[in-house]
Amino acid sequence: MFKVHPVPPGRLPALLRAMPKTELHIHIEGSLEPELIFALAQRNGIALPYASVEELRQAYAFTNLQSFLDIYYAGASVLIHEQDFYDMAWAYLTRAAADHVVHAEIFFDPQTHTARGVAMETVVHGLHRACVDAKAKLGVSAALILCFLRHLSEQDAFETLEQALPLRDKFIGVGLDSGEVGNPPEKFARVFARCRALGLHLVAHAGEEGPPAYVWAALDVLKVERIDHGVQSAKDPALMARLAHDRIALTVCPLSNLKLCVFPTLAAHNLGALLDAGLVATVNSDDPAYFGGYLNENFTQTFAATHLGTQQAYALARNSIDASFAPDADKQAWLHRLHEVFESFVEHDY
Ligand code: HPA
Ligand code: ZN
Repeated sequence: MFKVHPVPPGRLPALLRAMPKTELHIHIEGSLEPELIFALAQRNGIALPYASVEELRQAYAFTNLQSFLDIYYAGASVLIHEQDFYDMAWAYLTRAAADHVVHAEIFFDPQTHTARGVAMETVVHGLHRACVDAKAKLGVSAALILCFLRHLSEQDAFETLEQALPLRDKFIGVGLDSGEVGNPPEKFARVFARCRALGLHLVAHAGEEGPPAYVWAALDVLKVERIDHGVQSAKDPALMARLAHDRIALTVCPLSNLKLCVFPTLAAHNLGALLDAGLVATVNSDDPAYFGGYLNENFTQTFAATHLGTQQAYALARNSIDASFAPDADKQAWLHRLHEVFESFVEHDY
C-alpha cells in the first residue's frame, strides 16, 4: 500500500499537473478548437455561419447539454478528409502529453460524419494514425472508442457497427453519447449485446442529466464496464452502493458539468462526495475546446474550488490508471511513475 504524504496547499496545483494520469472521457470532436475549425473550413472551402474565431467562441454559452450539442455538431462539419481527422487528434494528443496524460481512451462519433457522406474509413484511419504517432513520438498510448449517437435509432447504430467492423482492430470498444434524456440505454440493448459478443469494451454516458434509472440500465441492460459522467447517481444510495461494490468507474467531467449547468458552481460539484462514498471516480475533460480547459485545468480548477487535497489527487490519478482498458503491464509502469512523482513532491518539502 502506497503511503500518501500531504503536500502543502501551495504545492498541490504543481502536483496535480505533474502526476501521470489517463484520460478516459474525451470526445475528439470536442477537442476541435475554434482556430482549427476556421483553418479546416478554409482548407475545405466550407462557409461557416460565424465571421471570426472570436464570434464563434462567443457562441459557447450553454444552458444545458442540447444547447452545446447543436454547436458541437456544427463545428464537426468542417472535417472532411483523413488528414483533418488526423490533425484534430494530433492537436489533442500533443496537448494531452503536456498535461502528463500517459494514456487516452478517445471517443469518436462516426455518425456525425457518415451522415454527411464522409466514409467510416476516412474517420477511423485519420484518428488511428494519430494514435500510432502519439505512441511513437509523444510516448502517449491512445486508443479509440466508437460512440453511438443515442438520439438516432437502434437501426442506425447497427448499420454504423457493420460499417466499422472491417476496422475492428482500430478501436477497443463502444460507447453511447448525445442527448440523454428521452433516449434511455434500453434503446440500444441489442446493439450492445452484439458488441459484447464481439469482445468489445462497453461504456455509456448515463446520469449526466438523466436519472439514476439510466445508470442502472446502463449497468444491468447494456452491461457496461464504466459509466461516463454518472454524477446523478448520488441521488440513489442503493446505486451508489452498487457502483462502489462492483468498482464501476465514473468518468466525471467537472468543467463540462459546470458549463452545461449540471452544477451551479465547481464548489457545489459532488466529486468529493463520490470519492468519500468509495466510488472509483476519475477526472476528465469531455469536450475541452468548448468547456474552457484540458485535463489539468479540470484538476486545478476543481481542487481550487473545493476542499480536495493530496489524498484525493492520488486517488483520482490512481483510479484513472486502474479504470483504463490498458494492459496490466502498462498500468503497473504508470503506477510506479505515479508513486515516484508523489515521493518527489514530499522530498522537496521535508
Ligand atoms: N454528453 C453527451 N454527449 C456528448 C457529450 C456529453 O457530455 N459530449 C459530446 N457528446
Ligand atoms: Zn461526454
